[in-house]
Amino acid sequence: MLNSKDLATFRKRLLCWFRRFQRDLPWRRTKDPYRIWLSEIMLQQTRVAAAIPYYERFLQRFPDVRMLATAPQEEVLRWWAGLGYYTRARNLQKAAQEIVADYGGEFPTRWKDALALPGIGNYTAAAILSMAFGEKHAVLDGNVARVLARLGAIRGDLRESQRWQELQKTADGLLEPKYPGDWNQAVMELGATVCTPRSPQCLLCPVAQYCKGRRLGIAESIPEKRIKYTTVEVTLAAAVFVDGKGQTILYPPPKRTKEKASADHVPTLVSNMWHFPTLSVTAEPAGYLMAFLRRHTPGVQNRKWQLVPAGKVRHTVTYRAITVLPFLINVQKLPLITGAKQVPLRDISSLPVSNLTRKVARAALAAQLSFPPGAESNPFAPPPFRGALQVLR
Ligand code: ADE
Repeated sequence: MLNSKDLATFRKRLLCWFRRFQRDLPWRRTKDPYRIWLSEIMLQQTRVAAAIPYYERFLQRFPDVRMLATAPQEEVLRWWAGLGYYTRARNLQKAAQEIVADYGGEFPTRWKDALALPGIGNYTAAAILSMAFGEKHAVLDGNVARVLARLGAIRGDLRESQRWQELQKTADGLLEPKYPGDWNQAVMELGATVCTPRSPQCLLCPVAQYCKGRRLGIAESIPEKRIKYTTVEVTLAAAVFVDGKGQTILYPPPKRTKEKASADHVPTLVSNMWHFPTLSVTAEPAGYLMAFLRRHTPGVQNRKWQLVPAGKVRHTVTYRAITVLPFLINVQKLPLITGAKQVPLRDISSLPVSNLTRKVARAALAAQLSFPPGAESNPFAPPPFRGALQVLR
C-alpha cells in the first residue's frame, strides 16, 4: 500500500498522534496480561464507556487470574451480570483455570498457546500478546478493518473471507515492529475517535494524506453495507410469582443440548443465566403461560392463579428483537419447581441474572404497586383462562 519511506512517515505520524491524543483508559495504564485480556473480552461486545465500571468492579473482586480461576462460576457471572453475552464470562473463567493448570498462572506468550484458550481468537490473542509482551502481532477487528479499507479504498464486504485475509496481510505489513502494542492501539484509537463509521473526521486525521478513500471521495461509503439479516421478532411470556414475603421464583440457566428443542424450551432466547419461567408465544400469552406453569407444577393443577399483565419489556440481541410480556402472579405460597430457586423479587441479583431479567423484575414490581396482593379486581386482567391449550413450539 505504501513505499518504505511513506510507511516510515505513516507509522511515525500515527504513533505520535496516539501518544499525544489517546484517551486515558484504565487498561492502558498496565502491562498485566490478565487486565489487558479482561478489557479485550469486555470490549468485544460492549462500548468503552459502558465497560469501564464493570472492568473496575470485576478487578476489585477478581484481581488476578488465580482468584478468577478458583471462584464459583455463579459468582463470576454475577459480576458480569448486565454486560450481556455471558459466554464471554464462562470462557474467561475456563481460560483462567487452564492458565493456572497448564502455565503456572502466567498468561502464555506463544501464539498457538494463547489461541487455544477458550474465548480467545486471532484478534484477542494479537491484542494481548502485543500489548502485554510486545509480540509482533497485528490486530484486525471491524474497527481496524474499516480504517484499513478506507486507507486502501477497498470496497465490498470486509468480512468476506478472502478480503478479510487481505486486510490481515495489510495490517501485518503496517505494524510498527518496535511498538506493536501501541501501534495496535493507535489504529484502534483512530477508528474509534476519528475514522468513525459515520462522518469520519478526515480533517483531524494524522494520516489523511495517505488515504486513498479520502482522495477518491469515497471514505464515507466504506465499508459498504453488509447484507443485513432481518431482525426476527420474538415474543416471550414470563411468570413473576410473588409470595407474601416478596419472594419470587427463578429458573436455572437453560441447558443447551444439541437435541431437538422441547415445547417448553426457549433455546438462546433467554440468556444462559437465571431467569423467570418463560415461554415463547405467538398469541394469548396469558393462556399459554398458564398451561406452561401447570405442566411445570404438577402438584398444583387446580390452583387458580391470576395473571396480572405487567407491561412490556423490549430487548434486542444480535438479530432478535425480543418483547417480554411479564405477568405478575401474587400467591400465598410459591409453587415448588424442581431446580428453581426462591429469591427476593427486589433482589434477584443475588443470582446471576441478565439485564433483561432485571427489567422484567422491575416491571413486575411496578405492577405490584398498582395491583397489590388481594386487590379485588384488576382492570387490566387478561380474559379468563379457557381450558387446555397446546403449547407453541
Ligand atoms: N476496543 C477493543 N480494544 C480496545 C482497547 N484496547 N482500547 C479501546 N478500545 C478498544
